[in-house]
Amino acid sequence: MATIIQTKNLSKSYGKTQVLKNIDLTINQGEFTAIMGPSGSGKTTLMNTLSTIDSFTGGEVWIEGKSLLDLKKKALREFRQKRMGFIFQDFNLLDTLTVKENILLPLSLQRTPVAEMEQRLANIIEALNMESILSQYPSEISGGQKQRTAAARAIITNPAIVFADEPTGSLDSRSATQLLEQIQLLNQTFKATVLMITHDSYAASYCQRVIFLRDGKIVNEMFKGEQTEKEFFDRILTIQSAIGGDRR
Ligand SMILES: Nc1ncnc2c1ncn2[C@@H]1O[C@H](COP(=O)(O)OP(=O)(O)O)[C@@H](O)[C@H]1O
Ligand SMILES: [Mg+2]
Repeated sequence: MATIIQTKNLSKSYGKTQVLKNIDLTINQGEFTAIMGPSGSGKTTLMNTLSTIDSFTGGEVWIEGKSLLDLKKKALREFRQKRMGFIFQDFNLLDTLTVKENILLPLSLQRTPVAEMEQRLANIIEALNMESILSQYPSEISGGQKQRTAAARAIITNPAIVFADEPTGSLDSRSATQLLEQIQLLNQTFKATVLMITHDSYAASYCQRVIFLRDGKIVNEMFKGEQTEKEFFDRILTIQSAIGGDRR
């Protein structure tokens, strides 16, 4: 399997406070990975440094073989727009655009030809079963549908990697399950690499791999392998209660 993200001694400090401590991490192409850990353990900081949203203060990060240290601001921004997709807890949809326009926004920004936009949209809409809400506005759809729109927008550019920070955090359990199934589908159908932060063992059980952070260090890691979601869930719970961390 090809490596898509690699870090060596990745560190990040705010003033004297070291938030990420010498993290060595390798993520392979096509992996669906969860990051878990107590509040304040550095999950968001780790994701933001990997996704080039935030800088780091020590060590090195390579994405698709490129060292982030070698990329200037403009190159980083281009890299982020072309190669990365994002799903945030609060959706970040634009209220004045329809669902379809929201999903196509990243392609519009890249000045993609209309025919290609329509083709890509058709593929995703079919996979996500979103036909009926395309012309609605965000204010007219449910939280689950908003999140699905955000997922479609994250994937439309065919990104090498999708970053999701607590994407199910504000959803009821039924919408959360739907979104997780859809992210799983994106991972399987479009071979997207997905890195997802979650507090929720149930959400993490959809992943193939779970990384546990504590005090800015990776303290444990597990792989689903041939286990069922239920078996994996039970193992995640065990580790989670040992490490501490908010359960929901
Ligand atoms: N901009 C910032 N300035 C100072 N400290 C920060 C900043 N962002 C995060 N931190 C600190 O870094 C630690 C990790 O935060 P974060 O990565 O958000 O944790 P998590 O996502 O696991 O809850 C926390 O102690 C937090 O207070
Ligand atoms: Mg966080």
